[in-house]
Amino acid sequence: MRTVLYPGSFDPITVGHLEMIQRAAALFDRVVVAVMHNPNKPSGAFAVDERIRLIETAADALANVTVIAASGLLVDVCRGAGATAVVRGLREMQDVPEELQMARLNRQIGGVETLFLASSPGVSHISASRVREIGRLGGDIRGMVPERVLDRVRRRLAPDAST
Ligand code: PNS
Repeated sequence: MRTVLYPGSFDPITVGHLEMIQRAAALFDRVVVAVMHNPNKPSGAFAVDERIRLIETAADALANVTVIAASGLLVDVCRGAGATAVVRGLREMQDVPEELQMARLNRQIGGVETLFLASSPGVSHISASRVREIGRLGGDIRGMVPERVLDRVRRRLAPDAST
């Protein structure tokens, strides 16, 4: 059985993330979505448990997708999940330098291969950080997060949200 790991912050899941999950699920027997802490990003807007629930709801139709919380080195998470490779989405050229560095380092320290999927042009301008910004300022995030979780994300980011 071929398992691929799809790691990320997912704070929150976007339509771009969901596209990657769907495409990875069509290519591999099993996809493990790993919600990870990115040491280069400030602590999340959504709690890890919340992010997991949002991804599970958004990807509910995909029987071969599992969502986990993970920390530490990506190569160790891969080993633990039985994944032979990592999948990452490329949106724009500015994603490339950092993604190449991570891919090369992960191969060097753990023999883990990274497969890049080019995101669809229709979603390549969307990022979780912009979703958070727009949602927090009261803008419309429809079309940026999966429809099934839109209301939950909207409520959570709304300027008057209590938590
Ligand atoms: O969605 P993101 O924030 O771009 O995901 C980045 C993530 C979580 C995949 C990356 O920060 C990561 O791999 N973190 C684990 C730490 C690690 O293994 N670092 C060394 C590899 S370069």
